[in-house]
Amino acid sequence: MQKIAVIGAELMEHGIAQIFAVNGHDVTLVDLDEKILESATVGIRKNLELMAEYDFINPEEIDTTLTRVSTTTNTDKGVNGAEFVVEAVVENLKVKQKIFSNLDRICPSSAILASNTSVISITEIAKESGQKQRIVGAHFWNPPHLIPLVEVVPGDETASDTVDATFDLLLSVGKHPVKVKKDVPGFVANRLQHALWREAISIIENDIADAATVDECIKFGFGLRLPALGPMENSDMVGTDLVLAIHDYLLKHIESSPAPSPLLREKVEKGELGFKSGQGFQS
Ligand code: NAI
Repeated sequence: MQKIAVIGAELMEHGIAQIFAVNGHDVTLVDLDEKILESATVGIRKNLELMAEYDFINPEEIDTTLTRVSTTTNTDKGVNGAEFVVEAVVENLKVKQKIFSNLDRICPSSAILASNTSVISITEIAKESGQKQRIVGAHFWNPPHLIPLVEVVPGDETASDTVDATFDLLLSVGKHPVKVKKDVPGFVANRLQHALWREAISIIENDIADAATVDECIKFGFGLRLPALGPMENSDMVGTDLVLAIHDYLLKHIESSPAPSPLLREKVEKGELGFKSGQGFQS
């Protein structure tokens, strides 16, 4: 699969384009907004310069890599000849459904159509498409050129060949793809991440510890172990019998609300949006 198209050119998406361009693919970035396309190219150059500074790539590769990236506001033109298309526009089901039914019409049936959705069901995204077998989730993590994981998620009607080809392509560009067995909201990694965040917010809300302490408990505690030892490896290490004893005692005390925390809602309503407004959980 030589030619790749990425629909959407914000921070996340130009990082995705960069991954493929660095690995020799021709990539077209498509966005409705010409200014976003311009800053995407600048963003890729800056990323490449930083990578060259730290010896991840040869400085001579910067210009060659950039010649492989083209941009357009015209989707038909952008996906022309692409064998793998990654959709990465706003996290809105209706918008994504519309894009996939349009791609269905303009891309040859051999092309694989992937969505970078963070949490939306791939089956739902593919609902209005006539060729659901070629639609798959490819969930990159931000920043995509630095975080290795990509979750490959089949919708109910995705062909296993589509999943395998997506997995192999991602592997070939240096990513660490994983195959998710079922199309469930949040896939695997966001379920894990937000289970932790729900408990973190609940601890603050119940005045057990403040936000800084919650982060310290992770950054100076079990967070240090996580890159080497996942929770399943860790439970084998301590013994499943100990995990059972802990869960027997603890689970009834930890957060299980199916709704977002009132504290989180209050922060958003007050405009305390974090870095972008200057005040969040920590100032
Ligand atoms: P965003 O909303 O900031 O950017 C989307 C871009 O798509 C904009 O530049 C917009 O002009 C463009 N766009 C919208 N409709 C379009 C269309 N019909 N054709 C071409 N371009 C169009 O979104 P963001 O945050 O970059 O996320 C994009 C996707 O990636 C979402 O599905 C999100 O869930 C997913 N994602 C985002 C991560 C993040 O950290 N931001 C991490 C992992 C996944």
